[in-house]
Amino acid sequence: MKKIHLISLTSLVLIGLVLMAFSFPQDKEYGPEWEIPAKYKNMENPYKGDKGLKNVGRSIYMKHCRSCHGNRGTGNGAKARMLDVKIRDFASEEVQSHTDGELYYMSIIGRDEMPSFEKKITVEEDRWALINFIRGMK
Ligand code: HEC
Repeated sequence: MKKIHLISLTSLVLIGLVLMAFSFPQDKEYGPEWEIPAKYKNMENPYKGDKGLKNVGRSIYMKHCRSCHGNRGTGNGAKARMLDVKIRDFASEEVQSHTDGELYYMSIIGRDEMPSFEKKITVEEDRWALINFIRGMK
């Protein structure tokens, strides 16, 4: 009898440990610094400061970006925990210090786990509305 108790106790502890390992977020790291082609760096945002595009930017963000980047751009979207790499907070100095053109490259061209949206967001005005929206997240 005692032996059986011990075995079931041990398996319970083991099951508990396995569950814990899966529920705790793993230690993830940010991807390396982005290498952005020169032609994007100084790309001009033709819609800079266009407040009329705010709702357009928001709705595109909610449709395409929120699932990973989260409601407020902090990087805690529902899908984020399934990714290998950590997502930077849009409000951070690190993201905000990029030029609009650099944000455009990262948002539309992407790399690795950051998907490309070249075929999903095709209208230039929509793309910049999105960049403006990210700019407003600080
Ligand atoms: C499938 C999840 C996913 C979706 C959807 C997604 N992203 Fe990302 N995004 C990422 C990941 C992961 C990174 C970090 C990639 C890296 O460092 O290699 C990232 C990085 C970025 C960055 C650079 C900041 C950083 O963390 O390095 C910007 C800007 C960005 N995404 C914008 C967007 C925009 C705009 C959309 C919607 C059009 C979007 N993302 C949709 C996963 C996603």
